[in-house]
Amino acid sequence: MNPPSDSLTGKVAVITGAGSGLGAASGRLLAGCGAKVALIDLDESALQKVAQEINDAGGTALALPCDVTSADGLAATVAKINQTWNRLDIVVANAGINGVWAPIDEITPEEWDRTMDINLKGVFLTVRACVPLLKEGGGGSVILMSSLMGNRMFSTSGATAYSTSKAAIVSFGRMIALELAKNSIRVNTICPGAFKTNIMQNTESRNREGLRLPVKFPEGKWPLGGEERGKPEQVARLVWFLASDLSDYITGTEVYIDGAQSLLMG
Ligand SMILES: NC(=O)c1ccc[n+]([C@@H]2O[C@H](COP(=O)([O-])OP(=O)(O)OC[C@H]3O[C@@H](n4cnc5c(N)ncnc54)[C@H](O)[C@@H]3O)[C@@H](O)[C@H]2O)c1
Repeated sequence: MNPPSDSLTGKVAVITGAGSGLGAASGRLLAGCGAKVALIDLDESALQKVAQEINDAGGTALALPCDVTSADGLAATVAKINQTWNRLDIVVANAGINGVWAPIDEITPEEWDRTMDINLKGVFLTVRACVPLLKEGGGGSVILMSSLMGNRMFSTSGATAYSTSKAAIVSFGRMIALELAKNSIRVNTICPGAFKTNIMQNTESRNREGLRLPVKFPEGKWPLGGEERGKPEQVARLVWFLASDLSDYITGTEVYIDGAQSLLMG
C-alpha cells in the first residue's frame, strides 16, 4: 500500500544515488505522491531510465547526472533545480558505496579515502549545497542514509571504512538537526538493514573469511522476512514519512529499518 498520491503535492525533492536501489525506489514513491523530483547519480543511463519511468507514469522527474564528491557539480545541480522549480523542500542524501572490505592492515589509504569521500563527504557536500535553498523556502526535511553497520552492527569483518562513514553520518545528522531547527529544517537519519539492491556489485571483499553472519535466527537470517532481504520500497515508505508533514515533530534522530536484524547481530 502506498501513501496518498497528493501527500507531497507542491514539494520539490532532491535524491542522490537515485539511479538504483533505495534512491530509485524513493524517487518513484515521492514522485508518485506528487513531489517534483530531481534525481542525482553518477550513472547517467540508469538515472535517465528512472526519470523516464517516473515521467511516463505521470510524475515529474529531472535527471541530473552528478558526482556527490564534487562541490562544484552539486552547486551547479542545485542551481539548475532552483532555475527549474524555484524551490526545494526535501533532500535525500542517499548515494553511497560499500567500497573495499579488507583487513585493517591491508586496506589502502586510497581505498579508505574513496569510501569516506563518497559516503561521508558526499553527504556533507549534498547538504551544504541544498541548505541555502531550504532556508530560503522557510524549511524542509533532510533525510540521510546511514546503515546498521557502524551503529548497531559491527560483525561484518573488514567493512571498517564503510561502518566508520555510516557512524559519522549519524553524528553529522544530530549536529545539523540542532543547528537548523531554527530554520524549520528537520534532519533525520535512516539506518537500513539488508535490502535487495545493486550495492553488492560495487563491493570488493578481500576477507578470507568472507561475509560473516555470526548469529542465525532459527527461522532464517532475519526475524521479519525469514531468508528474504527487505525490499527497497519499504525504505521508500520511511523516506516518504520523514519527508511528509506527518513527521513534523521528528528531527535529530535515527530510525532503524531492518526487520529486527540488528537485534540479533551485535
Ligand atoms: N542495500 C542495503 O542493504 C543497504 C543497507 C544499509 C545502507 N544502505 C545505504 O543505502 C544507500 C543506497 O544504497 P543501495 O543499496 O540503494 O545501493 P545501489 O548500489 O543499488 O545504489 C547506489 C547508487 O548510488 C550511486 N552512486 C555511487 N557513488 C556515487 C557518487 N559519487 N555520486 C553520485 N552517485 C553515486 C550509484 O551509481 C548507484 O546508482 C547507500 O548509502 C548504502 O550505503 C544500503
